[in-house]
Amino acid sequence: MQIKDCDPKNPAFWEEYAAGLQKGPVNKKCMRPDTWDRASATYDDLDKCPDYRRQVSAVMDILQQKGALDKKNIVFDIACGTGTYAVKMATKCQKVFCLDISAGMLEKLREKARKLCLSNIETIQKDWHEFYSDQRFDLVFVSMTPLLRSAENIKKFLRISRRFLAIVTWAGIRENQLLKELYRDIMGKDLVQKGHDMIFPFGYLYSLGLAPHLTFFNGCWERTRPVKEQSETLIWRLELYRELTQDEKDLVFRKIESLADDNGLVAVTTRVRTCLMVIDKKELEFSCS
Ligand SMILES: C[S@@+](CC[C@H](N)C(=O)[O-])C[C@H]1O[C@@H](n2cnc3c(N)ncnc32)[C@H](O)[C@@H]1O
Repeated sequence: MQIKDCDPKNPAFWEEYAAGLQKGPVNKKCMRPDTWDRASATYDDLDKCPDYRRQVSAVMDILQQKGALDKKNIVFDIACGTGTYAVKMATKCQKVFCLDISAGMLEKLREKARKLCLSNIETIQKDWHEFYSDQRFDLVFVSMTPLLRSAENIKKFLRISRRFLAIVTWAGIRENQLLKELYRDIMGKDLVQKGHDMIFPFGYLYSLGLAPHLTFFNGCWERTRPVKEQSETLIWRLELYRELTQDEKDLVFRKIESLADDNGLVAVTTRVRTCLMVIDKKELEFSCS
């Protein structure tokens, strides 16, 4: 790798690093709407997991303490998915704009907003790369999305933020033993999950002279689902790497079936560390005179 001057304090170092992260089929597939439409039906199963719920409420508490969630504030949730955060932010802010490339994800979000009688959420179905606006937002919020692998995107998040930028992403640990086993059995090699991590957004923001506040969350994310749904989710994960043959899909199904309890349910756990980083542009205005 030819990393510019090998100086992590130089933004060019991270720009080159990020260019490497965007290569390869997994990144491309994670940017396609059909990939997320396929995941949208069961995406919110995670809301049942106590460690995940704890993380979401801790993120909300921190944003509130910092003043990022306020009745006057306009928020932009980019790659909002099913709106796990957006529906919570909408109860505390004036308006939440929610952009996502996936119609399926946004339909789930609208369903939740309707049930909660939230009228201050506006959804925008669009590829972020094709979104242009002069508007600025009090809080720009970006969570767990492949968009965080690009220097251009990070700069654009900063540009449209009037004051706060908050990012939630993976932080070094993401271990799903069952996925690892299936990957090894089917692909014949060990699973390596590259790139989708806090190192890049943090390093890049730091090299730009910013000092994101960091909070880490450790947890075990358990999703319990019927055999068919659990198999479909694991097949979806594996197919980010390449299409599976019918025999390979059957192998996944049989493996999951062998793990089912008496009610036909299978629990799959992922050991994770995630991170919230928050930038308050106001903190940058300090001087020594
Ligand atoms: C793992 S989900 C995260 C959803 C939500 N932010 C959360 O934390 O629950 C990743 C989201 O990124 C969205 N996404 C991926 N590429 C995108 C793009 N180019 N433009 C807009 N959204 C995109 C997907 O549709 C998906 O909803």
